[in-house]
Amino acid sequence: MKVGVLGTGEVGRVLSEGFLRKGHEVMRGTRDPAKLKEWRHAAGHRARVGSFAEAAAYGAIVVLAVKGAAAEAVIGACGSALDGKVVIDTTNPIAEAPPTAGVLSFFTGPNDSLLERLQRKAPGAQLVKAFSCVGSALMVDPKLKGGRPTMFICGDETAARQHVADLLDTFGWDVEDLGAAAAARAIEPLCMLWCIPGFLRSDWAHAFKLLRP
Ligand SMILES: NC(=O)c1ccc[n+]([C@@H]2O[C@H](COP(=O)([O-])OP(=O)(O)OC[C@H]3O[C@@H](n4cnc5c(N)ncnc54)[C@H](OP(=O)(O)O)[C@@H]3O)[C@@H](O)[C@H]2O)c1
Repeated sequence: MKVGVLGTGEVGRVLSEGFLRKGHEVMRGTRDPAKLKEWRHAAGHRARVGSFAEAAAYGAIVVLAVKGAAAEAVIGACGSALDGKVVIDTTNPIAEAPPTAGVLSFFTGPNDSLLERLQRKAPGAQLVKAFSCVGSALMVDPKLKGGRPTMFICGDETAARQHVADLLDTFGWDVEDLGAAAAARAIEPLCMLWCIPGFLRSDWAHAFKLLRP
């Protein structure tokens, strides 16, 4: 499968390399393709680099992995290239302010989410929130005591969520499908919870697991 990965941060790198390892083809998108020249050479012949719009057009599926505050602008820069495509939204609406007692601030409120804003910005795309509540180091094939961790996903299109759930299975995750986009109001703040042990104790090696009887 051809995957467009929008983002040159750690999430973009880890997920691009994960998709490549699992046999997919990847084009990473950025404002400045020159800065990924070395990565492209190291990543091999199934890796490409382009603009955000070129990577969006390339992918049969697209991963959005940019700074939360820039996400609406990046979606806008992709224009109609995202129409009809599943877009895996990894972003979190983290505000510029430093954490308070280890707790991040968001630029969204409790009855709002970045996913919903992005879905309104790109009504032809099928956004699915995923990978937002775990650190990049654990996104692909996490090895943790207690078995597979749980990835919480949501988005308005049922078939798109199923597609992402199938991909997450190949990336080593159990999936909890929380339904429509509004569930992102609950999923995105899990990023705040996930980060607190990190900011307080430099403990970043954990992931959530949903347990049932
Ligand atoms: N880091 C993690 O472990 C982690 C875990 C879960 C979720 N997330 C979320 O995943 C997303 C990516 O995180 P990250 O740490 O990999 O990278 P990041 O540093 O948050 O974002 C880097 C990307 O954002 C783009 N960007 C920044 N400012 C921009 C602007 N003004 N206009 C257009 N693009 C802009 C950059 O574009 P250029 O390439 O053009 O410079 C780059 O591709 C974030 O929303 C983050 O909250 C991160």
